[in-house]
Amino acid sequence: MAAKEDIRKLIERLIRIAEPESRLLAFGSTVNGLGLRYSDMDLCCLLDVKSSQMAPSALVQTLGELLKQETKFDVKLLPNARIPIIKLCLSPSASLPFGIACDIGFENRLALENTRLLLSYASIDPTRVRAIVLFLKFWSKCRNINSPYNGTLSSYGYSLLVLYFLIHVKNPPVLPNLQGMPPRQSSSLANTHINDHEAWFFDDIDCLRESWTSLNEQSIAELLIDLFRFYAREFPYADGVISIREGFLKKADNGWPSDSGTFSPRECNCFCIEDPFETTYNVARTVTREGLFLIRGEFMRASKMLSARSNSAPMVLSELCAPTTASSQSPALATLEPRTFDL
Ligand code: CTP
Ligand code: MG
Repeated sequence: MAAKEDIRKLIERLIRIAEPESRLLAFGSTVNGLGLRYSDMDLCCLLDVKSSQMAPSALVQTLGELLKQETKFDVKLLPNARIPIIKLCLSPSASLPFGIACDIGFENRLALENTRLLLSYASIDPTRVRAIVLFLKFWSKCRNINSPYNGTLSSYGYSLLVLYFLIHVKNPPVLPNLQGMPPRQSSSLANTHINDHEAWFFDDIDCLRESWTSLNEQSIAELLIDLFRFYAREFPYADGVISIREGFLKKADNGWPSDSGTFSPRECNCFCIEDPFETTYNVARTVTREGLFLIRGEFMRASKMLSARSNSAPMVLSELCAPTTASSQSPALATLEPRTFDL
């Protein structure tokens, strides 16, 4: 975390050469408490609207050139992407044994806010929420189904699957719905829109603790077994939408047609996860039909292995996370020792 923070400061100093009033903020797992040692660092550059003249695509070009000249990062520019970004990468070294990958975006204020929402959920029940999200991230990376670029799901998507399960599927719930709770004062609902999206949620977790406790006493292991069974066999992928804001929704009600085969293979709407604030945005839009087949197959494999319990728990968990094939492993995962688990 300290090495990541040093890198953030260095990049911020460089960006300020071109945009003196800008700020560079970390979001995603670097700040929401749901990071692994080899997690990337997601960065968001906030510009001063009064002084900044450049469009994001021009900024990506200018700042990208600066970073190429002044740092040892491997720099890739995506100025024409839906959200223009700069991708930076450093190879592993003694101070950064897993290397580091950073994505720098611009003005992505909703991402800062959804990071705060995930952080709030993680701090309600850190033991269970963190363990389950981190396990899903680790397992999905090992099983090669955590790659939006290759037709599967981002870590953010897996985090939302876990929250949906803990808020809306478990009865009694493990977590309350922070977006469905009444505000303490009506005034706290004012100015809660970001880019025309309602972004309010109950974020006073100390106050929440005084009035809300989960009646669900299941262990991490019991919850994981139920979660794998739910996504293997119970969730209706064909017409259901996962919404942590509302609970179960139908694709048709959300304006997302069921997977009818008429969409391009890259955006088939076969798996729908509603973003908590940008409700017309499908977080799983990168999942192809083949990707969903792989993901469901992995949930089924996991559910079967966990219910059989023929071996000791650490053995089963280690087998569950066995890398799919050496060639498809990410470089970071390839450096990890085979593990046993101690739940
Ligand atoms: N994000 C988003 N929409 C997506 C994917 C990501 O808004 N489809 C934003 C979210 O704010 C999320 C952040 O980008 O918190 C980082 O996404 P990702 O790297 O997938 O999640 P992390 O929790 O950072 O996972 P990892 O530790 O694997 O990096
Ligand atoms: Mg990340």
